[in-house]
Amino acid sequence: MAKTEFSTLPVHLGIIMDGNGRWAKKRGMPRTFGHKAGAEAMRKILRECRELGIRYVTCYAFSTENWSRPPEEVAVLMRLFDEYLDEAHERFDKSRLIFIGDKTPFSDKLREKMLRLEAETADIEGFTIFLAMNYGGRDEIVRAVRRLAQKAAQGEISPDEIDESAVSRELYTYPAPDCDYIIRTSGEQRISNFLMWQGAYSELYFTDTLWPDFDTKALHAALEEYQRRSRRFGGI
Ligand code: FPP
Repeated sequence: MAKTEFSTLPVHLGIIMDGNGRWAKKRGMPRTFGHKAGAEAMRKILRECRELGIRYVTCYAFSTENWSRPPEEVAVLMRLFDEYLDEAHERFDKSRLIFIGDKTPFSDKLREKMLRLEAETADIEGFTIFLAMNYGGRDEIVRAVRRLAQKAAQGEISPDEIDESAVSRELYTYPAPDCDYIIRTSGEQRISNFLMWQGAYSELYFTDTLWPDFDTKALHAALEEYQRRSRRFGGI
């Protein structure tokens, strides 16, 4: 696809990848078929984001609420994560990978792979992927607050020093900047506990396109809309 020049790009893009199940249903296939197609869409979109020069992308892969899905569906998602991690391992020279969310409920094997990939990609600059897995925005804020309370109780900081930047420093995404733009696919118009703190000022983009159909052309359309909005925002 011809390269489009974007004068303004989000530095930090958030993506809520929604609609895999409906995409599969439309084709008379099981929901898990949609997740496989969704994983493929994610690979292509992340590659394009990197090539365009976006610095940080946070993808919502699995929320704290997703555990309540049927066990077979959760198992397929875990297998897809596992495959993605194996393959990310082979091309880790290009992107830094950080898993945001509570890693404790994942299998030992998956958790070890996550930790290893984070360590192996820690020095990569230029493009960072935050993969939100067992992530919840409120949970992230609660953890940050708890950590600050511990520091205060231990006398490391005074309660008066707890301000917005102190909270930001305890978030999973620190030191990445706040999220500029959040894309949500599949027609739902909600934030669903995604980047509750970092998204306080995000521009929001909702599209009816189901996630597996969200291709580079759809990404470009979303980024063109971002340019229009930031031009207005930046006007006198
Ligand atoms: C929402 O669609 C999507 C998810 C809950 C999972 C996102 C997972 C992927 C994109 C694939 C695998 C990811 C990695 C990291 C390899 P939905 O199931 O809620 O769709 P529906 O709203 O149509 O039911």
